[in-house]
Amino acid sequence: MSVNTTTPAEADEFWLFGYGSLIWKPPPHYDQRIPGWVTGYVRRFWQDHRGTPEAPGRVVTLIERSYWRQLTDHHDSAPERVWGVAYRIAPDRVDEVKEYLDIREINGYTIHYTPFHPAVSSSSPGLDPVDPSVMPPHHGPIRTLVYIGTPDNEQFVGPQDPQALAEHIWRSEGPSGLNRDYLLELEKALDALSPDSGDEHVTDLSNRVRAIASREEEQQKLKQNTGQTDSILRAHTPVNVSPDLLQQHHHEGFRKAGSIDEQEETEKKF
Ligand code: BEZ
Repeated sequence: MSVNTTTPAEADEFWLFGYGSLIWKPPPHYDQRIPGWVTGYVRRFWQDHRGTPEAPGRVVTLIERSYWRQLTDHHDSAPERVWGVAYRIAPDRVDEVKEYLDIREINGYTIHYTPFHPAVSSSSPGLDPVDPSVMPPHHGPIRTLVYIGTPDNEQFVGPQDPQALAEHIWRSEGPSGLNRDYLLELEKALDALSPDSGDEHVTDLSNRVRAIASREEEQQKLKQNTGQTDSILRAHTPVNVSPDLLQQHHHEGFRKAGSIDEQEETEKKF
């Protein structure tokens, strides 16, 4: 005979697990936010976010670990614990919040339930202490609702080359902002949960995006310098010189200047 240990109050409770933007953009009407983790999944940037159909950004989903193991992923390791936060929603607000979440998150995600393990503040230095009255008995797992983009949904992308993925994130923008901001916010939000809550997939993509940002900045600087050289050349070129010649002048400028200088040097010597 199984014994039901859930009190009527607990049965009414609604907890939501966030492992993506919900970590730093909480749902409305929550009265508790607890950092912690779920197991049995791997977090990956494998879900298209169809905000802008021309350039959909890429966002995270959870992949069942047993399924992920069968795939060839360039990021071939993943932490056992997928860190995130659980939100408790006041019972009288549950319908409202579910409706809000359906609008916000629907993009191919479906509803699943998973046990969530609260990180107890005593074992996780730096965390805000959790109100003991909201913790389940013996700090055991809490049943949470979670939105997952499963491999059978249209927006699921699957394994990708990390550099190509980082480039995609770098150039994408959706209705809720730049895709790169989503990635970097996620990295920051994860780091803030616990000293152990980092996710190497997220960190590696963030490092790649930062490297792309530096590369782009260098290219911008180079372009600006080239623009300045062009205007200097234009200022020193007679007005009736054709644009083609000006272009040629630009490309050959240094070589020509070099050869004239050489000629002058030779003339000076003799
Ligand atoms: C999350 O933060 O958990 C999440 C956000 C949007 C869609 C699915 C999950």
